[in-house]
Amino acid sequence: MKRRDFLKNSFTALALTGVGTAGLSIFRNHQFIGSALAAESSPLLPISPLLDNLDKSGQSAQFLLHVQQGTKSFFPGLDTRTYGYNGNFLGPTIRARNNQRFKVQVDNDLKEETTLHWHGVHLPAKWDGGPRQPIAAGASWFPDFTIKQEAATLWYHAHAMGSTGEQVYGGLAGLLIVEDEVSDQLGLPQTYGVDDIPIILQDRRFYRDGEFAYVRNMHDIVNGVIGPHLLVNGAISPTLKATSNLLRLRLLNGSNSSIYSMSFAGLPQFHMIASDGGFLERPVPMSSIVLSAGERAEVVLDLSSLEYPESALMVDQWGGNQFTAMTIQKAQTLDENAIMPNRIKQVERIPETEAARTRTFVMETMGMGMMMGGRLTINGKKMNMSRIDAKVELGSTEIWEIENRSAMMMSMPHSMHLHDVQFQILDRNGQQPGPHELGRKDTVLIPPGENVRIIMRFQDYKGIYMYHCHLLEHEDDGMMGQFEVV
Ligand code: C2O
Ligand code: CU
Ligand code: CU
Repeated sequence: MKRRDFLKNSFTALALTGVGTAGLSIFRNHQFIGSALAAESSPLLPISPLLDNLDKSGQSAQFLLHVQQGTKSFFPGLDTRTYGYNGNFLGPTIRARNNQRFKVQVDNDLKEETTLHWHGVHLPAKWDGGPRQPIAAGASWFPDFTIKQEAATLWYHAHAMGSTGEQVYGGLAGLLIVEDEVSDQLGLPQTYGVDDIPIILQDRRFYRDGEFAYVRNMHDIVNGVIGPHLLVNGAISPTLKATSNLLRLRLLNGSNSSIYSMSFAGLPQFHMIASDGGFLERPVPMSSIVLSAGERAEVVLDLSSLEYPESALMVDQWGGNQFTAMTIQKAQTLDENAIMPNRIKQVERIPETEAARTRTFVMETMGMGMMMGGRLTINGKKMNMSRIDAKVELGSTEIWEIENRSAMMMSMPHSMHLHDVQFQILDRNGQQPGPHELGRKDTVLIPPGENVRIIMRFQDYKGIYMYHCHLLEHEDDGMMGQFEVV
């Protein structure tokens, strides 16, 4: 069976068994806002502002972030209590450059502990912002390191032990864009908010009174908190007005536990130009793209090839809903802003022979059945902050073989993420992945029954980092471990 078919079949299979769906039947439906209730008119797509660099010379990148509580109305007349960075929901987009010193002051104005994790960033362990670097209520944190990686779309989010899911659901997430000499010169669309657009996709479930329905019961832990409303940059079914022929979208699956398959109405083809950790070697023509929770992709749409006045971002949620996530309205006349390069840059493949060792990680969902909940583990263990699960030598290359072993009734996709490093996918079930998965990655979808081998170099920094399932309910439940670079 071809991979594409496999993915398609597993979408269907999951939908049929109900595994991985919101499974709302076990709740009383009327408690929630049904998907029929939508905003009255389509709002304009909100675009997070670029965060001001406090170093006016631009030499270094210095930022101030307030972690705060707020309220937002996603539905007319209903208020939702939210969290945000420097605002009510989500955070500003941070932009920095390779080799730039990166200093941030993070003020935690919440009444609870949080952390601020730099997802996808290669950095010293003490500034990682994972569960080991809590910021107490009312306290501040001052990460200070130098960006050492190529241009990429990264992100930041809360990652406190046991409350990551709830805080990210509340809105604690934002984009971090790294630029470098290569990205400067490619001639790709690069005007933020005009032809270079951040797209953060997050599904949500709401109570009738407008509050987020973030529930911590066994059902939601195992299946993930999956909702019938899709937010795009915090808005439901917004409209983006496009004014140029090439439109670059930086897609982030910022949902807690959903896997999204995305396509564009009226555009049978688009090009993917970058994966989690940077550019692909050349633009890869695609008709749809699958991103698991935490993954990013940069895609470029050619609107001059669109026959209709508008397109739409269509999102198919694994085992769940289908959304018209966003309308893309095309201007009468389009600016000739850019041309698609044939080739982007050379992407070095790490040779398998370089690996000093191979480790095995089994992600396992076990249980009595959906209603009873289950047990989510990696190599049979749950996260323990005082246990190091893998000691890795500084400067070494390793292969990690990750298997999603799920019993029939409990088959769940997982999304494996490693802190600090960008890896490459060697194979899925022994077969080389498609060209869109040959670039740098920090998060990878592991569908039920699949076995994925990744390879990476552990460079520059010693210290303790996390690896975990990026389905945040799984992660909070302990589907996480620690590796120490020694
Ligand atoms: Cu985006 Cu440890 O996470
Ligand atoms: Cu991370
Ligand atoms: Cu998982």
